[in-house]
Amino acid sequence: MKKVYLETFGCQMNVSDSERAASSLESKGYEIISDENLADIVLFNTCSVREKTEHKLYSKVGKIRSQQNLRKPLIGVLGCVAQLEGETLFQKSQGIDFVLGTKAVGRVSNAIEEVLNGRKQFLDLGKREENYDWSVSETQRNSPHVGFIPIIEGCNKFCTYCIVPFSRGRERSLVAFQIIQQVLKLRDEGIKEIHLIGQNVNSYRPKTEEGLEKFKGATAFSRLLRAVAATGIERIKFTTSFPRDFHSDIVDAINENENLCNWVHLPVQSGSNDILKAMRRGHSIESYLEKIDKIKSAPERISLTSDFIVGFPNETEKDFRETLKLVEYCQFDSSYVFKYSPRPGTPAFQMIDNVSEKEKTIRFLEFEKIQKIYQQMALQSYINKTVDVLVEKFSSKNPKELSGHTKCHKVVNFESKFERNNELMGKIIKIKVTKSKANTLYGNVI
Ligand code: 5AD
Ligand code: SF4
Repeated sequence: MKKVYLETFGCQMNVSDSERAASSLESKGYEIISDENLADIVLFNTCSVREKTEHKLYSKVGKIRSQQNLRKPLIGVLGCVAQLEGETLFQKSQGIDFVLGTKAVGRVSNAIEEVLNGRKQFLDLGKREENYDWSVSETQRNSPHVGFIPIIEGCNKFCTYCIVPFSRGRERSLVAFQIIQQVLKLRDEGIKEIHLIGQNVNSYRPKTEEGLEKFKGATAFSRLLRAVAATGIERIKFTTSFPRDFHSDIVDAINENENLCNWVHLPVQSGSNDILKAMRRGHSIESYLEKIDKIKSAPERISLTSDFIVGFPNETEKDFRETLKLVEYCQFDSSYVFKYSPRPGTPAFQMIDNVSEKEKTIRFLEFEKIQKIYQQMALQSYINKTVDVLVEKFSSKNPKELSGHTKCHKVVNFESKFERNNELMGKIIKIKVTKSKANTLYGNVI
């Protein structure tokens, strides 16, 4: 039995693709292992969103190929870097045996067989198969208690800095009844929480309305949320939302359904209208804040998170101050902040990357300092409160502690009496929060 090691970089969509690639390999008799050194085949599912993430691939491949006298595994590159670089990857990074684009992950066993049969530098950038199997085997799920369901692939937005529309192609939504079927299957397997995922999950627009009820004034996405909520699965989260397509009815759906979780990830990228325009985000700060106000007015507090880019071309000190002002207004529970990274092929690549690395770092650190204050405030607001936690795993730092997430997607750690086969694993239990640290809440079982 051939042993396969699969490493994933990047977003949840890649994690989800890897789950399916591993499931299909397993069904064809391959063994998926977690020790790279024992592998006959090493697969990298790659990310190209920033230069740094792309370079991880090259250093990983280089490291394997420089290990003289050791076993020489086959190396396959999947995902976004594979899609963008195609054939040139074989020159850029010597020692790669095959390259599979973002739509070809389902054909990974075919690629392996081709190479084992002597094909050199096998390349597949083709379309997804018509009868593509979207299911994931229980053993290959990233978490035994949480299921990812991609509901829309690709992106049509073409923000000027972003490579995703090129690496993932145009938006394509899965038909609602197929999504519902997957949710029901996961529910029946005992999965407690599902994440509906997509680069722009709320731009969901299937070709047919099959599986969706009509609902006056509601978008296909909020109707899908209602249909998924009606399956009775315990928790539904969704990510990532795109501001322009974030309609107030999504908040109404959350308010109306106990199992639609109170967490919205709504990247804004910048607090300056000039920069948003240059990024071609298709929304203004004012329209973004209207959505934030609606989210903040919900009867049950909705946790709010975002993404930011600092140092976009021509971003002035004044633009950056406006970003900090926005952070102060929105008080995000947490935010990811990235230094602008020019990506070849994107419109912004033609602009001069004129904010120095030093200035980018200063803005990055200042952003983090302010964001941390609001993150702490958000975490501390849960102290002495009781939260429902889905128990997912043992804490990586302390094996006596269990760890899981709240409905609003906060990580909660708590002590358990048992070290193994814990009876609480996979259950949703009540925890009284006692303290908070940088990113985590701590508490006791009630
Ligand atoms: N440079 C820096 N950050 C980027 N992101 C996307 N493209 C770039 C880029 N070229 C960030 C955005 C997005 C997140 C997934 O990655 O903030 O929301
Ligand atoms: Fe990239 Fe913009 Fe599409 Fe998000 S919406 S994936 S940032 S192009």
